[in-house]
Amino acid sequence: MCGIIAAASTRNVGKLLVQGLHKMEYRGYDSAGIALHQENSIAHLRALGKVQLLEDMMISEKPKSKLGIAHTRWATHGEPSEVNAHPHKSKDKVYIVHNGIIENYIELKEALVKDGYEFSSQTDSELIAHLLDSFLEKGNSMIDAMYLAKEKLEGAYAIAAIDIDNNNSLVVARNKSPLLLGIGTDEILAASDPLAIGQLTNEFVFLEDGDVAEISAESYKIFDENKKEVEREITNIDISSQATSKGDYKHFMEKEIYEQPEAILNTLDGRVGGDDILDNIFGLGSSELFAKAKRIQIVACGTSLHAGRVAANWLSSIAELPCQIDYASEYRYRNPHVDENSLLITISQSGETADTLAALRYAKEKDYLGSVSICNVPTSSLARESDFVLFTNAGPEIGVASTKAFTTQLAGLMLLVLSLAKSRNLNPKLRTRIITALRTLPEVINETLALKEKILDLAPAIASKDNALFLGRGIFYPIAKEGALKLKEISYIHAEAYPAGELKHGPLALIDEDMPVIALAPESEIAEKLVSNLEEVKARGGTLYVFADPSVKMDVKNGAFISMPKCDFFLTPIIYTIPLQILSYEVALLRGTDIDQPRNLAKSVTVE
Ligand code: F6R
Repeated sequence: MCGIIAAASTRNVGKLLVQGLHKMEYRGYDSAGIALHQENSIAHLRALGKVQLLEDMMISEKPKSKLGIAHTRWATHGEPSEVNAHPHKSKDKVYIVHNGIIENYIELKEALVKDGYEFSSQTDSELIAHLLDSFLEKGNSMIDAMYLAKEKLEGAYAIAAIDIDNNNSLVVARNKSPLLLGIGTDEILAASDPLAIGQLTNEFVFLEDGDVAEISAESYKIFDENKKEVEREITNIDISSQATSKGDYKHFMEKEIYEQPEAILNTLDGRVGGDDILDNIFGLGSSELFAKAKRIQIVACGTSLHAGRVAANWLSSIAELPCQIDYASEYRYRNPHVDENSLLITISQSGETADTLAALRYAKEKDYLGSVSICNVPTSSLARESDFVLFTNAGPEIGVASTKAFTTQLAGLMLLVLSLAKSRNLNPKLRTRIITALRTLPEVINETLALKEKILDLAPAIASKDNALFLGRGIFYPIAKEGALKLKEISYIHAEAYPAGELKHGPLALIDEDMPVIALAPESEIAEKLVSNLEEVKARGGTLYVFADPSVKMDVKNGAFISMPKCDFFLTPIIYTIPLQILSYEVALLRGTDIDQPRNLAKSVTVE
């Protein structure tokens, strides 16, 4: 999704701004641009497509500047095009970059057009440049103009702005869209993602909603929503030491798949002790709060929602708690009734997903016991705004398609379920059984990763089709959904998932030689019923690819039967996810798609 970087420096900033854009490429984008202050003019370069194209323009034009703003755009209003790319400008004087969505843009645009402003793009963002210009024209400083603009703007935004009359400083503003400052040796920076500036500094200042900051090469000032100058804490994070290179792998996604044993170890580290879960692993007072929980509400999006669906099953079986689960984008709009002693759980890799954050903020106004988040990014808004948090510690996930973030979310959710069960004095023997199984989980994942060669044999048959069906039952239905999501997002093959028992109620009509069926068949009390469902597919000439426990009796002639390593039933969803990730990756590789940055998608979805 969109990325902002801005810098005021004592040296040339063009190169470091473009390097910052490269670091944000993983977020997904369709165009890139830069505006560089050159004392009497502002160099303005934009390119549709990859940041590399913008970099090539910079190499040929060699603009020199110590103050600049740059952006990667992910289209919301207006198609991906050079003219819609940021920075946007007003009369060659004011240049802005913007992340987020201005909800009242039509009415603001109409007023600006009446005042004689001409628009060249179809974006909602361009009006911010004109609005700032209209206030600067009346003699306001950029800081004052930004506050006046904020009074008019409705929606979410992170903005960085420069104007021709000031080559010393730039101004940024944040409302419901991430923005932080970085204190470097030769410059002060602003960015929407710490990874963009992690090579230049370890010192970050996270802005709060309503904040406006003025940045020059040597200093910065932050003002809160009431325009009062404030000090915000400086957080030290060594981002450059966090692995953000592909190493010997072809893609980040591939690397992240094979990192899972270590990632899971990191999720478990310091959270289990002896044969039980440790107390208060979600923060001081969390165990006490969990003892009061009578009902759980989960909200999340995409892959994180799939993790939540598995957890809903665990909550019922292990912590004996009823659980309601909602798409974060839907939750606020169904007038949710909140029972007494309900706990809100949000799940998010990035911790910046706008729908999930909006759901959390909405829920905070309701009568929940408290909010608990499972999140991978410690500096994220979700982590900072939740009452209790468990970090999954998976390390940066760069591939747009979530892999290690999902399996570590599942491990983190299991820790939550065990914590709730312990606080409620429930199922001590089962807890010990699961803790013992969790300790061996990284080893079992290694065994599962070793199935790669067998999966490679299946990939060409799937890669040559346009559709695929994924089947699972019970706790494996969300894993089938996750398998279908992974395949569709990176290979562009249309894929759907069904609980296998539902097949005969409609989807069976789709079965033919062009519809591969990928099924998950672990050892379970409904294994025989699942096999009967798969026989229905066989009987209609379908091709079956079954990932199964060796004890499952099934004769697959058309397709393949792959025996999975053994592990405790409750943890098998984690294990059965792995071959589906590898399969999607290998299929996408055969189809030659842009695996780490699939078309139309973004890593961190910061618009609702
Ligand atoms: C799919 C994927 C997305 C995310 C979703 C939520 O592979 O990654 O479906 O899971 O956009 O993102 P987070 O977890 O950052 O809230």
